[in-house]
Amino acid sequence: MNLTIDGVSKVFKERHSEKKALDKLNLEFSTGVYGILGANGSGKTTLMRIIASVMKPTEGTIYLNGRDIASLNHEYRALIGYLPQHVGLYKNFSAEKLLHYIAALKGLSKVDAKEKVDETLELVGLSRERKQKVGKFSGGMKRRIGIAQALLNDPKILIVDEPTAGLDPKERIRFRNLLSKISANRIVLLSTHIVSDIEFIAKEVLILKEGKLIKKESPNHLLSGISQKVWSLTVEEEELEKLQAGNRIGNISRIQEGFQLRIISEDKPHPDAVRVEPNLEDLYLYYFDEEEGTG
Ligand SMILES: Nc1ncnc2c1ncn2[C@@H]1O[C@H](COP(=O)(O)OP(=O)(O)OP(=O)(O)O)[C@@H](O)[C@H]1O
Ligand SMILES: [Mg+2]
Repeated sequence: MNLTIDGVSKVFKERHSEKKALDKLNLEFSTGVYGILGANGSGKTTLMRIIASVMKPTEGTIYLNGRDIASLNHEYRALIGYLPQHVGLYKNFSAEKLLHYIAALKGLSKVDAKEKVDETLELVGLSRERKQKVGKFSGGMKRRIGIAQALLNDPKILIVDEPTAGLDPKERIRFRNLLSKISANRIVLLSTHIVSDIEFIAKEVLILKEGKLIKKESPNHLLSGISQKVWSLTVEEEELEKLQAGNRIGNISRIQEGFQLRIISEDKPHPDAVRVEPNLEDLYLYYFDEEEGTG
């Protein structure tokens, strides 16, 4: 399976201004998980909505296995599962009833629906809660029922927009493993601000900035790109303030000897700094903290 994004732009026209949310994107996806990283407003949701075919691009074309999705129309939509960034669920429906309702909307037969609803409830770990009203679900459970609805039609392309926002760490791990499990024969597109969400499961990470693609590489490859640029350093409070002024600083943790910092810097930022292994969090800072930092 191959999904090709060819020269896709999206311009939002308002009365007095224009906003170019996506700027001539060219991308290719095959099966596996793709993580989409980008600051607020970088175009993640816009890209996902266009791929989910709930929004049309201003220019450009999307091809599935070489065929324009505009001409595939509902044939294409039948292959899509989409979990929007903000989902409204029917609060008074039980988990089971909600899924049956959505299955009907997606055109599944009653018999297929029954089987599929049971299967997806099991997959997302909500079998036991099937009779509970979704309005009373926790944030994590709501996210899981959201992914369940997106999976009902057994989509070949699953698009999940910030699915882990607001989840506790345990729920996030659960969610991640779930996505990893279902990605074997699908294209999974996942946007997030939480880089640890994709560090282990993404085949490739895409970095969007102001509607442009600035990177699309495997996590390892991306990390090796900054491998010489991440430093660790322990300092006392006065020095911390000085360093904060002129550097891109990641984690700061208080330890007995003072403060331990991670610094993203081309050159050794301090005589006592030692190089450390980069992680995706560092990478995020590297790309999205340029304005404030020294790079
Ligand atoms: N319907 C719309 N009308 C006008 N402008 C829009 C619309 N949707 C998005 N935009 C603008 O397009 C740009 C990209 O927005 P988008 O929602 O795709 O970003 P995002 O990367 O998903 O951000 P976030 O991380 O906050 O979810 C932003 O500047 C946004 O204000
Ligand atoms: Mg968004």
